Amino acid sequence: MLIALLPGDGIGLEVITETRRVLDAVCGDRLTYEEALVGGAAYKAMGHPLPPETLAIARRADAILFGAVGDPDCDSLERKLRPEQAILGLRAELGLFANLRPAKGFKELVNESALRPEIAGAIDLLIVRELNGDVYFGEKGMRKTDAGRRQGYDIMSYDEDEVARIARVGFETARARRGKLCSVDKANVLETSQLWRDVVIELSADYPDVELSHMYVDNAAMQLVRNPGQFDVVVTGNLFGDILSDQASMCVGSIGLLPSASLDANAKGLYEPIHGSAPDIAGQGKANPLATILSAAMMLRYSLGMAAEADRIEAAVAKALAGGARTADLGGTMRTAEMGEAVLRQL
Ligand code: NAI
Ligand code: MG
Repeated sequence: MLIALLPGDGIGLEVITETRRVLDAVCGDRLTYEEALVGGAAYKAMGHPLPPETLAIARRADAILFGAVGDPDCDSLERKLRPEQAILGLRAELGLFANLRPAKGFKELVNESALRPEIAGAIDLLIVRELNGDVYFGEKGMRKTDAGRRQGYDIMSYDEDEVARIARVGFETARARRGKLCSVDKANVLETSQLWRDVVIELSADYPDVELSHMYVDNAAMQLVRNPGQFDVVVTGNLFGDILSDQASMCVGSIGLLPSASLDANAKGLYEPIHGSAPDIAGQGKANPLATILSAAMMLRYSLGMAAEADRIEAAVAKALAGGARTADLGGTMRTAEMGEAVLRQL
């Protein structure tokens, strides 16, 4: 099976290197790789953050393993040439509309969480985030008001089909887990959210076995810290899901721990850590590679039919943590490669 390997920028390179070692140990030559530039690295070499060659490799691969994009050198570029456009472009071009972001407490890490240990230990939720719509993809621009002031705008919009297809993923994944779905919106003020809520309620007739609830996003942010154990599956829009999943990461212990899958209608997927390129620590060997290693496990499970291998990787990560392996984000002193080795030793 063919993997498109897209390390990207910053710590993306470092975490992908460790992940590749783990995949080699577990899958050997059953996986082949085509590596390509993406993000700031691609812009600097080829003038575009998502060059056609990279997109072509992503299209023909069975799955895509992605590091992160983002480069301070590119901050002054016009938006369509900025590194972040690469990940938005891949999501849009490949129709990757469903972003699955599991956040599960590691019992070994309850003391690293921003939460009290008894609360942190209870977290086991899945955020299902819509990825192809919302304010990120709506019309945007900069204009002058009548009074001559600069005004930026980004249109937030969803159509009912976009809501229905992500809601279905929410119901299906809830059904396969503990049967609880919480739909998060801001229906008290946003028209898009009112539609969101109506469509989710309509669809719930097909899932009588799933217990559906609704929550405003501001309350959800609070509840995620107060009592994250109450959530099973959370389905929400692109913007709210982006924010809530970073928040959920700190309930677990570190943003360096949380993997994600972005799937199309046929479960072809792009797999990446939820974090970005972390320019503040890039190139220093400080990044925690576990989020990416766990993303590779999700790739084996969801896109490549290699569930046993995925289990092996996840067990090795848990054992490494149980054995005290800690990078700086977890209060330790291990370097990126040492964390990779700690996982390899447990395989
Ligand atoms: P970030 O996720 O890169 O970093 C946030 C903070 O968490 C930083 O202090 C960083 O050092 C730390 N951190 C992140 N990953 C870590 C890891 N694996 N181990 C240890 N510490 C880790 O978010 P930030 O700083 O807002 O964005 C940096 C760049 O990344 C920007 O250009 C942004 O647009 C981009 N970005 C890209 C994403 C992607 O490629 N999917 C997602 C989020 C941001
Ligand atoms: Mg984010």
